[in-house]
Amino acid sequence: MNNQEAVDNYRKKRDQMLKGGGEERVKAQHEKGKLTARERIDLLLDSDSFIEHQPYIAVRATDFDLDKKKFMGDGVVSGSGKVEGRQVFLFAQDFSVLGGSLGEMHAERIAEAQTLSLKTGTPFIQINDSGGARIQEGILSLHGYAKIFKANTLASGVVPQFSVILGPCAGGAVYSPAITDFILMVDGVSKMYITGPDVIKAVTGEVIGHDELGGAATHCQKSGNAHFRFATEQECLIFLRKLISYLPANNREMPPVAENDDPVDRETPELFDLLPEDPRRPYDVRDFIAQIFDRDSFLEVQAEYGMSVVVGFAKLNGRTVGIFANQTKFMAAALEINSSDKAARFIRFCDAFNIPIISLVDVPGFLPGIAQEHGGIIRHGAKILYAIAESTVPKVALIIRKSYGGSFIAMSSKALGYDRVLAYPTAEIAVMGAEGAANIIFRREIKAAENPEEKRLEKIEEFKQTVMNPFIAAGLGYVDDIIEPRHTRIEMIRSLEMIVRKQEERPAKKHGNIPL
Ligand code: HXC
Repeated sequence: MNNQEAVDNYRKKRDQMLKGGGEERVKAQHEKGKLTARERIDLLLDSDSFIEHQPYIAVRATDFDLDKKKFMGDGVVSGSGKVEGRQVFLFAQDFSVLGGSLGEMHAERIAEAQTLSLKTGTPFIQINDSGGARIQEGILSLHGYAKIFKANTLASGVVPQFSVILGPCAGGAVYSPAITDFILMVDGVSKMYITGPDVIKAVTGEVIGHDELGGAATHCQKSGNAHFRFATEQECLIFLRKLISYLPANNREMPPVAENDDPVDRETPELFDLLPEDPRRPYDVRDFIAQIFDRDSFLEVQAEYGMSVVVGFAKLNGRTVGIFANQTKFMAAALEINSSDKAARFIRFCDAFNIPIISLVDVPGFLPGIAQEHGGIIRHGAKILYAIAESTVPKVALIIRKSYGGSFIAMSSKALGYDRVLAYPTAEIAVMGAEGAANIIFRREIKAAENPEEKRLEKIEEFKQTVMNPFIAAGLGYVDDIIEPRHTRIEMIRSLEMIVRKQEERPAKKHGNIPL
């Protein structure tokens, strides 16, 4: 072969490699309403920034005619590129090659990208579209998965990791996404389960469709496995670019500070009007968030799960913060099992990646009930306490209305770790609500009264006046300052800038044992 023939041969092979499983299979992928691996990468990355790794890797196994189904790349496209000018590593499984199934060499390609992501301290993105372990490769495939899980685990807390499920993600394949920080899914496209409908029917007799079992809505609303849900692949990948732009590349860096055109001295009088006169009336805490933080900067995480808590990223004078807020619209904002899990996991992500936490507090307590107790609310609720206590990032709390009992501690206690605690004049801080408290401590007096109901109301009011107002806590230094709603944004920015360089050490240990 002369030089020209060698180059021609290279070009031919390269064209063939870029076609994945071939035109027919690509057509089938499009007919299912799905993009190909390369189209997805193009949408995600800045244009012309993709550098492919090991594109000519191919299957080594030969059993079951695998040697006759050899495709360059082995069912996965991997490499690195840029998102808004910042480096990321990634892979996208190519369903057009053996159903994107994971065999030995496919896993090697993924592992190479994972290794470089960790070594360079660079975010990792995995786009999953795969039938799972390549059945013909047996143990080689299982070995490959194990390598990937371990690399995901070692990278956890070092670089942000994102899983975009854009097709099937079945069997053991689900555990790699589950170890990463965020899972993004698309309605009608994503399906994630350990065993599919057929196996379930055979084992338990239950009948269910793919989507109901493991579609985007199921994982965003019921199981809590996924964090974001979208109508289209395009929307999903564009959102991921935005999310990445809020985060540092790794745990040694601070999050990028964005340009901010929302004035830092903007007053927030709307918050006074948003706060209902009746303390039992709910409001949407997202309306508060929209006023306090930089305009249109809020990215809610797990919006459809554990909804008595709202968590997400926002910007405050261009700095990324993690918001941990009570949502009185759901279960009167009581902390329950799912919202506790959601909040604790989010707090730990923020702490791992140097993102300050802002809590917006209006919470009556942990949810009472047999199902909650038997479901382990003690253990789940403890996760929030643990996550806040172990965190070293700056933390600011704002008590809007109620902050009672254990939930006061979780959301706003300086002793647990909040660095600055602000309260509105409407704040109520106590071991429990006035009604419950009065019924317990004035029980005899109420019973003995001529008009017990009148007495009860009188005692409730007395309790509110003496114990619950924020000046008691402020007088003891447990609340740093009392602020007016219209000064919220200004005070939040001042508080954050005051403590943003805070450093805190923890005793050396192998790792803690969070109540899982
Ligand atoms: C080898 C596979 C494969 C797999 C799909 N293919 N999954 N090849 N190993 N796991 C191949 C198919 O044989 C087919 O090849 C091509 O990919 C496309 O698949 P289709 O079935 O035609 O596509 P579709 O109808 O869209 O169905 C997609 C699917 C289905 C739902 C993912 O293929 C399926 O159920 N696959 C098996 C899923 C599974 O049980 N995986 C193993 C899980 S156990 P041809 O050449 O015929 O077109 C597991 C344990 C790992 O993962 C544990 C690690 C910890």
